Amino acid sequence: MDKLKIFGKAKLKGSINISGAKNAVLPIMACSMLSNYNLHLTNVPNLVDIETLKKLLKSFGLKIKFNKNNMILNAQDISNRLANYDLVRKMRASILILGPLLSRYGKAKISLPGGCAIGTRPINLHLYGLEKLGADFSIKDGYILGKVKNELIGNNIKMPFASVGATENIIMAAVLAKGKTKISNAAKEPEVQDLINCLNKMGSKITGGGTSIIKIEGVKKLNEAKYSILPDRIVACTYAIAAIMLNNEFLIKKINPEHIKTPIKYLSEMGANIELGKDFLKIKKSKQIKAKKIETKPYPGFPTDLQAQMMTLMSVAKGNSQIKENIFENRFLHVSELNRLGANISVKNDTAYIKGNTFFKGAPVMASDLRASVSLVLAGLSAEGITTINRVYHLDRGYEKIEETLGKCGPKIERI
Ligand code: UD1
Repeated sequence: MDKLKIFGKAKLKGSINISGAKNAVLPIMACSMLSNYNLHLTNVPNLVDIETLKKLLKSFGLKIKFNKNNMILNAQDISNRLANYDLVRKMRASILILGPLLSRYGKAKISLPGGCAIGTRPINLHLYGLEKLGADFSIKDGYILGKVKNELIGNNIKMPFASVGATENIIMAAVLAKGKTKISNAAKEPEVQDLINCLNKMGSKITGGGTSIIKIEGVKKLNEAKYSILPDRIVACTYAIAAIMLNNEFLIKKINPEHIKTPIKYLSEMGANIELGKDFLKIKKSKQIKAKKIETKPYPGFPTDLQAQMMTLMSVAKGNSQIKENIFENRFLHVSELNRLGANISVKNDTAYIKGNTFFKGAPVMASDLRASVSLVLAGLSAEGITTINRVYHLDRGYEKIEETLGKCGPKIERI
């Protein structure tokens, strides 16, 4: 299994281009199942999660060509199969094919994704919304069996919580359903908007993307379309935090500034010197990074996917910080590993208390999930000495060859 060896006291220079957002590509790849025509995607990142979904979709007979960030998907000749445990367990987002399968075949059999390192992550909200559209579910031998009674019919769906994945699954099932669907308390994340924009290019009639009320008017069929994936806001902010920690001037290009307003506001309040341009982010040298108290919230609040990276920065800030995690129940697995590198963080219930003024010192550590791994990379880059990160496959799920991407900008990172 791959490990990363990170040489500390790194210096960042130059610039970096941000690639397409993983969390937007995944539902968009799934939505290609709804059409008989080609879906051409550009700005698709080269990530393990994308490969995993590609494998799953291919097992249903989809034809997929993926070359240099361009992907063409065609679902004309697919057949309904079982989505088996071996593929689904690798990535929970596999559940995103449930809505498209029910829409296309009126039935689906998918392995229950199960929990993961950051929590139990149930799918009750996905099932709740799909039931409102006319599906019935039973669970047998670890599989979800879904069946549509007659046909999917539009409905008013009030979500008890604005789940990103459930909103996406419901949208995909409603696009070809009969009549109108209204989702209240829908997720407002930019990746949900990106799915809506892509579906509309394919011929759907969806309004309200980016607000908590999404309206869908069912259409008969979808057409061929071309779509460019939005930039990854989490990757952009991760590299911004790296530059702030190393206190180097650094340019982050090809971003959408609209989507990172809250994290940039918080980072600026902590003393980071940031210039937010039309499609770039310039990190300049700052005098001092100060402590802050924050909590994670659904968009446009501070994203849970940046919580671990922010905690690493808070460790080197002046004073004591706090982070309350409101989205996932168990998303502090990076704390013990950051402490191995010299941090002083304690956790009580849903809140982490971070003592500042840490000087990280390199050590062997273990990655537990995607964002936790990158927080260890950030600590390793600023540490004195060498940090070895084990189980680096978590990182490859969301960051394109980080050793090469960052390596080009100065830091020495080896994959062993
Ligand atoms: C997506 C993102 C993930 C991000 C998360 C929150 C993808 C592929 N992943 O995950 O990176 O961290 O949004 O911004 O886009 N929940 C339920 N029942 C459900 C569904 C969710 O209780 O049926 C709970 C979850 O356990 C979690 C919370 O709701 O505590 C948020 O989950 P959700 O918004 O659904 O996140 P994902 O779509 O899984």
